[in-house]
Amino acid sequence: MNQHMQLEPIPFIDIAAQRRRLGKSIDDAVARVLDHCQFINGPEVTALEKALADYSGAKHVVSCASGTDALLMVLMAKNVGPGDAVLCPTFTFCATGEVVTLTGATPVFVDVDKETFNIDVNSLKRGIATARARGLKPVA
Ligand SMILES: Cc1ncc(COP(=O)(O)O)c(C=O)c1O
Repeated sequence: MNQHMQLEPIPFIDIAAQRRRLGKSIDDAVARVLDHCQFINGPEVTALEKALADYSGAKHVVSCASGTDALLMVLMAKNVGPGDAVLCPTFTFCATGEVVTLTGATPVFVDVDKETFNIDVNSLKRGIATARARGLKPVA
């Protein structure tokens, strides 16, 4: 590389690029929803859930408003509650533990593998033992 060459910095996150590419279709979709006023479970929601089911092969898709709601819905569907322990990775967002407490269950944090950042199996075993020692039932 020529030492006199000036390189343009590349932004780490360029939200404007997404706006340039998708802005018109997003504006049109928002306008459509504002026109028909079906803000909850309208045709766009049905279309999204169908597209996700087709893409993933899942039998059912239930969309929701946030990642937090998605995590909470899964725990509620599995009847997680008081007396249960849910093993959570330490390398995560606070919502992961927050939703466990919302069900009345207890989050038990376990380390992640330093190479993969997935839950470390040995730490998971220790977390399960710790939960049991405290009278909790490890369920998820
Ligand atoms: C790993 C993880 N779980 C859950 C959430 C919560 O998602 P939301 O902010 O949409 O509720 C986040 C948000 O960044 C996340 O990174």
